[in-house]
Amino acid sequence: MREANRIVAVILEELKELAKPGLTTLDLERKAESLCEQFKVRPAFKGYHGYPFILCCSVNEQVVHGFPNTKPLEEGDLLSVDMGIVYKGFYGDAARTFGIGAISQKARELSEVTEQALYVGIEQARAGNNLYDISAAIQNYVESRGFHVIKRFVGHGIGTKLHEKPEVPNFVPLNASKIRLKAGMTLAIEPMVAVGTDEVEILEDKWTAVTKDRSLAAHFEHTIAITGDGPIILSKV
Ligand code: MF3
Ligand code: CO
Repeated sequence: MREANRIVAVILEELKELAKPGLTTLDLERKAESLCEQFKVRPAFKGYHGYPFILCCSVNEQVVHGFPNTKPLEEGDLLSVDMGIVYKGFYGDAARTFGIGAISQKARELSEVTEQALYVGIEQARAGNNLYDISAAIQNYVESRGFHVIKRFVGHGIGTKLHEKPEVPNFVPLNASKIRLKAGMTLAIEPMVAVGTDEVEILEDKWTAVTKDRSLAAHFEHTIAITGDGPIILSKV
């Protein structure tokens, strides 16, 4: 799990360096493909429930599951890149949001709040805590900053499959039962946050999720492991 996720982190770093005005998200897809070959890992998303690409590239009002395409990125765009791979049967999954060139104050704030929300969630990923302590920490932080957590998509357990139990929502569900966290669990925690709404619509392509009000959205994701000494972030270089 550590190696799978380290490789995802290395690839996302490379993509971040490339993501400049004028480049297309399909260029990023091609780079990701060649890096997967280089690291001898299998991309996890392509073919998953029919998803057609290695990357999800979601720009501005797109929340998640955006298709890489031939439209050049523009100065001021807010780009979220999500990637999963399989290494020796184990899955890595992570996402980052990057500003393209100079971005607006609002976009920067949204991106910073979403990343920070991920870290306040990870902080609660401790043996003995309730699963929804993670959810509550994320939701409270995001809402205290005046933004909205997306409800339609959630984080998840991860291991020898991309999506395992339990779901890890970024909000506390109604009638939330108690799920006690234990050392050895590996979770993908992934806040998706929007400026104006918690609701999404799915575009004609059946995948791309956009905010209902077309306000900006951001997405950060880490795969973490819960240990006796607290959480360890696996998806880092
Ligand atoms: N990071 C997302 C997730 O964990 C991406 C899934 S895209 C898909 O669910 F194509 F694999 F569905
Ligand atoms: Co995920």
